[in-house]
Amino acid sequence: MTTLYEPAYAKLNLTLDVLDKREDGYHNLQSVMQTVSIRDDLEIDVGTGKPWRLLCSVDGIPTDETNLAWKAAAVYCRSMKKDPDGLEIRIVKRIPSGAGMGGGSADAAAVLRALNRHFGEPLSILALAELGAEVGSDVPFCVLGGTAMVEGRGERLRKLPDLPDCIFVVCKPDFSVSTPELYRKIDETAIPHRPDHRAMENALLAGDLGMVAENLWNVFDPVVTSEHLELNYIKSICHSYGALNQQMTGSGSAVFAIMPSFEYAAVVCNMLKENYPQVFIAKPV
Ligand code: C5P
Repeated sequence: MTTLYEPAYAKLNLTLDVLDKREDGYHNLQSVMQTVSIRDDLEIDVGTGKPWRLLCSVDGIPTDETNLAWKAAAVYCRSMKKDPDGLEIRIVKRIPSGAGMGGGSADAAAVLRALNRHFGEPLSILALAELGAEVGSDVPFCVLGGTAMVEGRGERLRKLPDLPDCIFVVCKPDFSVSTPELYRKIDETAIPHRPDHRAMENALLAGDLGMVAENLWNVFDPVVTSEHLELNYIKSICHSYGALNQQMTGSGSAVFAIMPSFEYAAVVCNMLKENYPQVFIAKPV
């Protein structure tokens, strides 16, 4: 039996635009995504000789074949015709669920990377990302990581220059948002303001964090904020301690801010912790 270790990093959406609805019911997206240092840790035993098993350090996460990490292992073994002779996947969970931070997708991507390494890297990272699309929309990006433009349903990736080093505060409020419902809602709403992807790409090319911050935009943010005004409270705390900018990530409900220094991030973190148990300081990875 071999044990594989793999980190699974959360993602933030620096931009997110929802384009047309596709024939498969999904929406075409355009999003600049970034992995950050908030992470789950996976240990995978290969060759247990027993039925597959998944364990998670927190309650409320499915531990059967509906878990994206399990699904990823199944997709990898089936499509690569590999028999791992029994798997046990153990997940130390830190990425909040229902946050828009891609926690389940990050775990799935970690399984794909770990199994691919175990079997001698038969797939390139881009081929592995492509396989990840069979598991979930955010999985391809999570396989790649870093800073990337993500298009289509999430399967088209283009690496971008790394985000300049910076400090994020991420706060997950107590409510979660139903992603399918949010997509339904946005279909019925005119989108008054969309991200300027050219400006965001130029900001990344120039390594200009101020310009990156100016160009954060997520079309889901105003839709969710209009129903959950506490997002404005979180943002106002970040703003009053000098955040370069702040917004919701993905379909929510977590909010992130780009902070001017670790000291200000620590102050904001302590203030938010008075009301929210899930507050993090993070860096891009
Ligand atoms: O990919 P995920 O499982 O998070 O998606 C949840 C739901 O969100 C999908 O079933 C679909 O209704 C909607 N969705 C979409 N277009 C996307 C991603 C998700 O319509 N690109």
